[in-house]
Amino acid sequence: MQDLDALIRQIDSSRIPRHVAIIMDGNGRWANLKGLPRSAGHAEGVSAVHRATEFSSDMGIRFLTLYAFSTENWNRPQQEVDTLMHLIGWAIERELPELLRNNVRIRLIGDIDRIPDDARRRLLDAEKATEHCTGLTLGMCLSYSARWEITEAARRLASKAQKGEIAPEDISESVFDSHLATAGIPDPDLLIRTGGEHRISNFLLWQIAYSELYFTPVLWPDFDKEAYARAIIDFQSRERRFGMTSAQVQNK
Ligand code: FPP
Repeated sequence: MQDLDALIRQIDSSRIPRHVAIIMDGNGRWANLKGLPRSAGHAEGVSAVHRATEFSSDMGIRFLTLYAFSTENWNRPQQEVDTLMHLIGWAIERELPELLRNNVRIRLIGDIDRIPDDARRRLLDAEKATEHCTGLTLGMCLSYSARWEITEAARRLASKAQKGEIAPEDISESVFDSHLATAGIPDPDLLIRTGGEHRISNFLLWQIAYSELYFTPVLWPDFDKEAYARAIIDFQSRERRFGMTSAQVQNK
């Protein structure tokens, strides 16, 4: 096993991904393997969020977007939903002083009105308190799904068109983009999914059109800085062509 310093030396600091998005999967299986309740997996998942945030800041990544709770996750057993909501609200409040010290800005992405009052208040307080921060932007996708987000954007644009505020022919890709929940955040360069599944699960469908995808069997609570460094090294080995030829990209 290579140590973290050796892995970091392999990272080209001039080609750090600007935006990393992560589907954090495997908390439940991590707990099962240890004979613990699923909630223990989620609690350990919070430590992994802390590590990933710290490593992103240290590496100079500008945006880290985490899939913390999907629209579909509302269908989990009520007790697990309650535990997760409590945990997320508690974690954000506990982490706030360190986020501020590290100049990290919280950005909530999703149908936040559905979050229970107590957790919602803590989340909104953290978003407000870090509004001025200019370092890493930590996007927290909560009660989020890409189809929800795209439908909302379409609805808002239709409503503007109905009121005569926008003409249908003026709806371009960039106008549509500016009506998404992620408005102002550049598209992810790298999308990581932990936990061994090879799917996107309704995450950032519009934004990942040209993202590099990285799947790892590592369960989210075990996703440490070494595992993150390996994902960045793998990303840097890819040639991003954006629909062009290899020769075109190399001559740019
Ligand atoms: C997926 O594992 C994980 C979740 C649905 C929740 C992720 C939430 C956290 C890690 C806490 C986030 C905290 C903050 C502060 C953002 P799973 O339960 O689907 O695992 P399984 O596939 O092994 O069952």
